[in-house]
Amino acid sequence: MIKRVAILTNGGDCPGLNAVIRALVRSAEKNGIECYGFIDGYKGLLNKEYMLLSNNTKITTGLLSKGGTIIGSSNNVNVFNMKIEEDGKVKYVDLSDKCIENLKELKIDCIFTLGGDGTQKSARDFSTKGVKVIGIPKTIDNDVPCTEITFGYNTAVQVATDALDRLRTTAQSHKRVLTLEVMGRNAGWIALESAISGGADVALIPEIPFDIKKVVKKIERNIKNGKEFSLVVVSEGAKPKGGKVSIKRKVDATPGLDDIRLGGIGEQVASEIEKLTGIATRNTTLGYVQRGGTPTSFDRVLSTKYGCKAMELAMEGIFNVLVTVNGDKLGYVSLEDIVGENTEIGASSGSNNEKTNIKRVSLDHELVRTARDVDICLGD
Ligand code: F6P
Repeated sequence: MIKRVAILTNGGDCPGLNAVIRALVRSAEKNGIECYGFIDGYKGLLNKEYMLLSNNTKITTGLLSKGGTIIGSSNNVNVFNMKIEEDGKVKYVDLSDKCIENLKELKIDCIFTLGGDGTQKSARDFSTKGVKVIGIPKTIDNDVPCTEITFGYNTAVQVATDALDRLRTTAQSHKRVLTLEVMGRNAGWIALESAISGGADVALIPEIPFDIKKVVKKIERNIKNGKEFSLVVVSEGAKPKGGKVSIKRKVDATPGLDDIRLGGIGEQVASEIEKLTGIATRNTTLGYVQRGGTPTSFDRVLSTKYGCKAMELAMEGIFNVLVTVNGDKLGYVSLEDIVGENTEIGASSGSNNEKTNIKRVSLDHELVRTARDVDICLGD
């Protein structure tokens, strides 16, 4: 019997986090379970910073449509390998036992970890130390394995689609080529799906290294056919054939977490197109608007389903799993299945990181076929 649970939201934020929190809190309340939130993800668990969420309507009202996370998030904390400074020297220490002590002191029976690969890796590591954990897959990138769709993804695709609708009219007015760089790390889901829904001419995704000449050919074919503008969606993890991903910055993440931030490939593609075609070409990098703001109705419902299923699993005594959705079926897989191969997280070694099992676009995926069928050039 669980009596008291806690939620933490960790990693980059995404639309729908609050909707999951709301679903967890509501189903906890309904079942007489007390629900807490750790502040700023694993940092709050380590520092014992938390807030009561259940029976606290002042805090939990209006959550369904609210972007971000009311309990905060941290993006570069690995409590199993925490960077600390002592006597002017930097060292890395495992502080997970302190977190476990905190859970015991607070009499928390189970934690819900809302996050992507890095977050679930720590969740798995806690589970092997006896903590009862239930993970919920959060990321706009949609790159978590074993589940068809992560919450936040649909909103990001919608934002990218809206951007393409706007870029279309300005591209058309000026007879320009406009490139749009979207997020997604080493998975091209956002780029591919928004290119289809936004009617783009080209979609460059990490899974298909591109040949710029193929892109140029498509643009020239457009002109020949009387279409004097083109829209090109570029995933931040896209790279030219034989080339490397474009890195925007390295962040000070503790070892074991992704320290690479991608970016810049949209500008590069735009400048090459302009050079090779002579057509005025401009880039827009969509950035964090994809992650902010109110979730779509799809994401609100998906987040609610994820939250309710997670609480149901906790009440059934099923732990150390990640909640999944496949078709109309909610289910779960072991956390090990999610992070087993992830000895490295994210983009560290560029795309094709063999030590990660993130879910990438497979070349025979329906979306790839659909894109080709409507003559979207994928750069190959
Ligand atoms: O994983 C979500 C994501 O938004 C990626 O699409 C993007 O590459 C990354 O996070 C940006 O991370 P940060 O918030 O550290 O800049």
